[in-house]
Amino acid sequence: MNSHPLTHTRPTQLPEFLYGSPYYPEHWGDAIRAGDPALFQAAGWNVIRMGEFAWDRLEPEEGRFDFSLFDETIARFAAVGIRTIFCTPTATPPRWLTLRYPEVLRVNAEGVTMQHGSRQHPSHFSPVYRAHSRRITQALAKHYAGNPHVIGWQTDNEFHCHFSEDHSPAAQVAWVEFLRARFHNDIDLLNRTWGTAFWALTFDAFEDVQTPRAGLPTHCNPAQILDYSRFLSQGVTEFQRDQTTLLRAENPNWWITHNGCFSHIDYAGDFTRDLDFLSYDSYPLFEFDPTKRAANQAFNTDYVRAYSGNFVVLEQQSGAGGQNNYLLDTPEPGEMSKFAWVNIARGADGILLFRERTCRFGAEEYWGGVLDHDNVPRRRYREAAQLGAQLRRVGPAVLGTSVAVRIAVCGAHHENQSAHAALPLGLPGPRQMAEKIHGYFFRAGHAMGCIHPADTLAGVSTFFVPHFALIDPTWIPAWSAWVESGGVLVIGARTGSKNMDNNVVAETLPGALRPLVGATVEEYGHQNRAALRPLTLRIGDNTVPTDIWYEQLLPDAGTEVVGTWDSRHLKGSAAITRRRHGKGWVYYVGSYFTEPLIAAVAEHLAAARLLPEPLSTTPLLEVVERRNADRTLRFYINHAEHTLDVPLAAGGHDLISDRPVSNSIRLEPTQVAVVRHD
Ligand code: GAL
Repeated sequence: MNSHPLTHTRPTQLPEFLYGSPYYPEHWGDAIRAGDPALFQAAGWNVIRMGEFAWDRLEPEEGRFDFSLFDETIARFAAVGIRTIFCTPTATPPRWLTLRYPEVLRVNAEGVTMQHGSRQHPSHFSPVYRAHSRRITQALAKHYAGNPHVIGWQTDNEFHCHFSEDHSPAAQVAWVEFLRARFHNDIDLLNRTWGTAFWALTFDAFEDVQTPRAGLPTHCNPAQILDYSRFLSQGVTEFQRDQTTLLRAENPNWWITHNGCFSHIDYAGDFTRDLDFLSYDSYPLFEFDPTKRAANQAFNTDYVRAYSGNFVVLEQQSGAGGQNNYLLDTPEPGEMSKFAWVNIARGADGILLFRERTCRFGAEEYWGGVLDHDNVPRRRYREAAQLGAQLRRVGPAVLGTSVAVRIAVCGAHHENQSAHAALPLGLPGPRQMAEKIHGYFFRAGHAMGCIHPADTLAGVSTFFVPHFALIDPTWIPAWSAWVESGGVLVIGARTGSKNMDNNVVAETLPGALRPLVGATVEEYGHQNRAALRPLTLRIGDNTVPTDIWYEQLLPDAGTEVVGTWDSRHLKGSAAITRRRHGKGWVYYVGSYFTEPLIAAVAEHLAAARLLPEPLSTTPLLEVVERRNADRTLRFYINHAEHTLDVPLAAGGHDLISDRPVSNSIRLEPTQVAVVRHD
């Protein structure tokens, strides 16, 4: 088991770089199945993933297990050197189970019980479902414990991907237990913490507290909603722990992972500590605008890495994707590989292309795989094979390295995200704002990343905390020490305005951050029709329009004003302040980070020599560094539609083309170089 603490630089500790695909033997006849191992071996696969939706095949009747299809598949692939990641199949219980035990079904906020017919309909809180989950996990674990070709496990599949709420009777019972434990069996403590004096919510007993159902009839208490989000996260963590415990007991050498990342799960907590590493499913074509894809994929992968470090992409888009009423773009030649290189550059220690072949039936019959419905290998297969050959050289070199981050934005914090969703006030959420800031510095070529607020800032020079209403006072000493040693902390408006219960703090804002910031907020307001009452602020030579939020700041003695409001009743008052602490600075920006404001703050920081040098100065060239004590790899990724000639600061060896490089490289559109500098 991976004993490293969770941090953005944590390695997966995988002994080999994983390359392959999810594989669904239950979808194919024997003729196709028999040909697949050789076909995928030729494309460089070393792993397949199986079983996550096959409970009906694995246990056709209660207590009668039949693993023969999977045993045969594991053996056939093993014969050509391809090993298996098996999955617990609990995202899709068989029909006999939901018929015989209907109490396992999840219930939505309207009180509607989910039914058999798609997936993710069982409740993680149902003791009956948990018993069945343990039963099938135990049976699989025992059966495969001695099989050397099963190397690791995925728990379930994408917990909370379709929806996460649960208001079933079982969830209600578990909710009461959760609250009892959280409030030490003291109902008055719950009442005080949630502020139930508002709208006569006061509870006399824990049994009386229902799961919150927004809209029935109207708004719920934000503190209650945040605790409900914590409850959902704890429930899925415990559900998963049943499985990880059984798997580890049968074979302690297996590694275990799960493919995230979705709402109401704290992936920076016990959920991930119970795993060896986190995995992530990467579908970059969900960004419909091709000009925004590079920044969007970079942000999504950085956000995932912020939870716990390097990860495996257990599913990566390899074809068009279609469900219900959408069909995503088909990746153009070179795009699928480029997606993989971006994922690897930004922390992936394995790539599985979803899926081996497009299925001819079912809800995802237009979800494109590496092969088409007719099983004719075409360009996507050839591209996957080329990638497989390249990964034989690059894969071993990336293992054990971590991604270098110089500028970071605070993110991957489950409670801030949920707290915002509970009472958004029409404002963009912390993730959305983090993406904006990330995008600006990504496009400017910086070694940009995301960092969880409780993680170390070692090696980071500039850290943005954008509009994190909830501030845990335990984060502050480490931030202060990092600033003292030279870090530049840039805090956005509204940060620190709430406590960890999702109630507004009693202190003058920015609450617990006041000593660091050295200023207070005298007045704040939301700009709903900014064009009609425009507000601008001045920073340096820039006059910057703001269109979301203003804060009028009062600097303490010794705090500098670097930005001033320029209009209406705010004219002349402080908008942006900075305060020196030791060798570093704390900036407070009394507005929301719109594009022009981010650009103006960046310009100010650059002029003040408080920004690191970018890794790339060529537009549309992404450069990312992965390194460890004995090697540095630089990924050069061409996102332009034209050839780029890229100057290099130092020579090295391009592991993709397997050639030495000296002072420049030429990259065609979608082309990538991975240069090893020793
Ligand atoms: C993932 C999921 C897969 C498949 C894929 C394409 O979210 O894990 O099972 O549904 O998306 O839609």
